[in-house]
Amino acid sequence: MSRSFLFLLASARPDGNSELLARAAAQQLGADTEQTWLDLTRLPLADYVDERHAPGGATDGDEVEAALHRATLDASDIVIVSPLYWYSVSSYAKRYLDYWSKWLSTPDPGFKEKMAGRTLWGVTAMAHPQEELAEPLRLTLHHTAA
Ligand SMILES: Cc1cc2nc3c(=O)[nH]c(=O)nc-3n(C[C@H](O)[C@H](O)[C@H](O)COP(=O)(O)O)c2cc1C
Repeated sequence: MSRSFLFLLASARPDGNSELLARAAAQQLGADTEQTWLDLTRLPLADYVDERHAPGGATDGDEVEAALHRATLDASDIVIVSPLYWYSVSSYAKRYLDYWSKWLSTPDPGFKEKMAGRTLWGVTAMAHPQEELAEPLRLTLHHTAA
């Protein structure tokens, strides 16, 4: 599979530090590597509703959810570009990750198998000088990928 990077911007501040870092990192990618950039703060993604135990199963997603689902499956590499907010990812990034709970079972039960072997990256910026304070963010992404 040729590499295709999906950059998901999740800072509540446009053109912020995390985006600058991600853009600098993306410049190192080869010309043959596809790049898709989506700004999670501008996509009207509905708040996640947990319908895993609903009698009729989960409702169909809207167009925004479907587009994100498709972009996720189309990527070999997913890059969460989120500043450190309260020691973890921003709410925009978290809401996107919450949807994985739905996509793991619907509408395509093969989501987990298809995502196996892909890579989840994180690019972050933070104010505290102690980088260990970003451990919750690192672990969130690490455990989610695992
Ligand atoms: C809501 C909010 C929560 C934050 N929480 C933390 C934090 O827990 N630890 C930290 O070091 N910086 C924290 N910061 C500072 C940001 O991580 C820092 O300003 C970062 O550079 C912002 O990234 P951006 O320029 O990409 O928006 C927080 C900022 C905001 C707005």
